[in-house]
Amino acid sequence: MERTDRKHERSIALIGLMGAGKSTVGRRLARRIGLPFVDTDREIEAAAGLGVAEIFERYGEAHFREGERRVLARLIEGPPRVIATGGGAFMNEQTRALILEKATAIWLDADIETLVERVGRRSGSRPLLNGTDPREKLRTLAEARNPIYALAPIHIHSKPLPHDSTVDQIMKALGR
Ligand code: S3P
Repeated sequence: MERTDRKHERSIALIGLMGAGKSTVGRRLARRIGLPFVDTDREIEAAAGLGVAEIFERYGEAHFREGERRVLARLIEGPPRVIATGGGAFMNEQTRALILEKATAIWLDADIETLVERVGRRSGSRPLLNGTDPREKLRTLAEARNPIYALAPIHIHSKPLPHDSTVDQIMKALGR
């Protein structure tokens, strides 16, 4: 029998660095398992009526992080969804605890070259990379953040393959 009452299911939170494919993979994963998809950056932008880069520019990173923390708290407490988080969201202790307690966290990882190639496609929209050498910056971020991302119970290496094969890997890790 088809199970229609899914409100007790856990949300799935995709975490990992910029360019790891959290939004693209998340959208496909959501479609595959039949849950709504949400991207925290887009939610923050909708609430502010500004793009992420403009929020950083006008109000500063701390303001963005506070919005990010609030959006994540609301989403995690809500009905089950696939959530693509911004790369820094899981660095917040409160957000991290909430995600680990109430959702299934998946660390989507990729090698630096793949990340560099992917962030290059949307340059300008990621304030942490503006005016930097993206390869160097991503390497520094990976060094600082990977030990924290590693707290997620599921770790998926996304290769520069079609995103659907990453979705397959996730489905397998979720036992679906
Ligand atoms: C950030 C990642 C971005 C966005 C913001 C800061 C980070 O999201 O939230 O620019 O700290 O790594 P994506 O990971 O979706 O690019």
